Amino acid sequence: MAVDSTSKWLNLKNHAKDIGGAHLGELFKSDKKRFAALSFSADGFLLDISKQRITGKTLDKLLELAEQEQLGAWIEKLFTGEKVNDSEGRAALHSALRSPTNDSLSHNGQDVIADVHQSLDKMGLLVEQIRSAQWRGFDGRPIKDVVNIGVGGSNLGPLMACDALEQYAVSGMAGLQVHFVSSMDGSELEKLLPRLNPATTLFVISSKTFSTIDTLANGNTAREWLLKASEKPVELINQHHFIAATASPEAACAWGVPEKNQLLFWDWVGGRYSLWSVIGLPIALKIGMANFREMLDGAHEMDVHFRQTQMEKNLPVLLGLVGIWNINFLDIHAHAILPYDGRLAELPSYLEQLEMESNGKGVNREGERVAYRTCPVLWGEVGSNAQHAFYQLLHQGTEAVMCDFIVTAARYENRGDGLHNQHQLSLANCLAQSRLLALGDSVITTDEGASHYQHYDGNQPSTTIMLDELTPKSFGGLIALYEHKVFVQSVIWGVNPFDQWGVEQGKRVATSLLAELDSSGSDGLDGSTQGLIHYAQEQRKEQQQ
Ligand code: F6P
Repeated sequence: MAVDSTSKWLNLKNHAKDIGGAHLGELFKSDKKRFAALSFSADGFLLDISKQRITGKTLDKLLELAEQEQLGAWIEKLFTGEKVNDSEGRAALHSALRSPTNDSLSHNGQDVIADVHQSLDKMGLLVEQIRSAQWRGFDGRPIKDVVNIGVGGSNLGPLMACDALEQYAVSGMAGLQVHFVSSMDGSELEKLLPRLNPATTLFVISSKTFSTIDTLANGNTAREWLLKASEKPVELINQHHFIAATASPEAACAWGVPEKNQLLFWDWVGGRYSLWSVIGLPIALKIGMANFREMLDGAHEMDVHFRQTQMEKNLPVLLGLVGIWNINFLDIHAHAILPYDGRLAELPSYLEQLEMESNGKGVNREGERVAYRTCPVLWGEVGSNAQHAFYQLLHQGTEAVMCDFIVTAARYENRGDGLHNQHQLSLANCLAQSRLLALGDSVITTDEGASHYQHYDGNQPSTTIMLDELTPKSFGGLIALYEHKVFVQSVIWGVNPFDQWGVEQGKRVATSLLAELDSSGSDGLDGSTQGLIHYAQEQRKEQQQ
């Protein structure tokens, strides 16, 4: 039976009629202990959902829905390697990537945990080789710049982590710069290559499939650049200047990356869940292997929390269920990610892929079109910058938006400079914005609010995730928290969060259109596409003259 016809879903529908209209201001007034009842903690984290439009009863009913949909059993399927990615017949074992050595998990007759650690050890050796200047470029000089070429999950996770954990960059790495290139049109390479020395630049081709055209196009351009600059044979260039992080060793070999330069992972790691694998090489290069392992430990702690903590105190479960409440019962379909910490500037882009590529599905696991809403539109920005961009809409627009505020409790302690005050300022802004969004006019103490354009309706729901501090460990936990939240929602919606057929089809359509750009017209195309191709052809002719 479709979930939206079940008794637990209908209970929630009725409950929404009863309390859905209640204003957050009233909810806070009527229950002084609201924060205590609706905030939850795990090691290093506080999750405050008291600014959500819920009561204890709402949570109870959401938990009943989760039980009805057998969330507990699904969590076990995920962790034990069942083929939860049914359309591709695969497990989704990203949690195994951060399991400690003394864990064990057999999958397809292989000891997955042993394989994971072997692969991490190989990555560790490579990191050491590069860091200690043993890895040399074509003329014998050590590597100074590492360029990660990858897109989607092979870019966003490492990019975000390198940015977030910059302060943990290892001192021995002074001088080694890590760069990221992803865009298919070559814009990044065009800007970056002139600033780099080919003799001291190493490229990491990060691609699970090693067939993504964006990545291969950038890789080819990088290799041409090296060949031209060095005038060395291609084999030598491949050997000294290319590493592959991939689950497709044959394709990497065919492209030219020698086996010894390949770091491997497995098809049971989804692209957007892969930063914990060798796809994390740029992170390990930047912050060192010990900090990388700390990040894995933090994620593992969240895995254990998710698997073992009772549902009513389980952070990913609560975060996921609150989203279900907003989307399916309060009709809110926009979700803003607002980190009040410049180090997490890339988090919104990362979560855009994690959430929308995972749960942006309209067909359930049985192949039926669902009649309820699934993943909302998700976007975001560093909160304090977003205040000067789109908060106007959040405060006074016509769209209901749910927000996640992410902030650290403490930063720059004991520094005795202006930065400590800046953290306090940012924290105050974070709390003030979520307060105004929730309570509206009632927080205004002056005469303001008198004119129609000075009214704040409030009642925009938000969650605040407060990290004690941002460390590799808490960062790992934060990302794992969101991964599992996405899984929780997928279970309720009955969709497979681990495939991405919509994107696959787009890639095929693009490949077939490439040839048309130089042809004199094809009747098989729609009028708009034909017209645009014709216009581009005319412009090219003009610009060639
Ligand atoms: O965008 C689709 C996608 O398949 C993502 O899921 C993936 O992260 C990205 O392309 C890159 O894929 P690959 O790592 O295989 O190059």
